[in-house]
Amino acid sequence: MSVLATLLSRSSTKQIQGPGPSEPEIQQILSAAMCAPDHGCLRPWRFKRIQGEAITKLIELAVKTLEAEGKPLNPTKEKNMREWLGRAPLVLAVASYVDHSNDRIPEHERMLATGAAVMNLLNAAHALGYGAFWSTGIGTYTEAVPEALGFDTLEYDFLGFVVIGSLSEPLAVKERPAVIDHVSVWEPN
Ligand SMILES: Cc1cc2nc3c(=O)[nH]c(=O)nc-3n(C[C@H](O)[C@H](O)[C@H](O)COP(=O)(O)O)c2cc1C
Repeated sequence: MSVLATLLSRSSTKQIQGPGPSEPEIQQILSAAMCAPDHGCLRPWRFKRIQGEAITKLIELAVKTLEAEGKPLNPTKEKNMREWLGRAPLVLAVASYVDHSNDRIPEHERMLATGAAVMNLLNAAHALGYGAFWSTGIGTYTEAVPEALGFDTLEYDFLGFVVIGSLSEPLAVKERPAVIDHVSVWEPN
């Protein structure tokens, strides 16, 4: 597939299962993330690899934390999350390093760079034939989940999880927005 065909055919999916990407493929996927645009070369993106038994621990941590922090998942959402992550061979937790010592590059630009890094890894996973989904539904907006993963919330913007695995069914072809609805030409007076 050409690079452009890969970009145009990517879509997010939770229909995944094992096996996950091999170690060389994981390195390729993460290397793609390192190629993101990045004002000031701050490299703010951080990823934590979560695999095997650690995924089971993450599920329990997220469910218990959401409950303890007064935002419990409803039973259907909890069941769906347990089933989805229970099939997942690879989860990447995503955070953006704030670096309070740097007042030259606005914080939102660092977050954008991290978002671009995630976009690159989503596309790389797709290029290698894997399915992936970026979610903030796994206790992202709690104190205890990012902290347990080693992302002090005073130092990092925690941005959720990318879940990656082999496709368990063909990737859906999604209708995308029309370019014309999102792009216009500036005509200076
Ligand atoms: C930062 C971020 C967080 C997201 N979190 C969730 C989420 O918690 N739950 C969800 O259903 N979709 C979430 N999404 C959206 C999906 O990842 C996905 O983009 C969406 O379902 C559209 O699919 P597409 O990527 O094929 O267009 C999130 C997207 C982004 C960029």
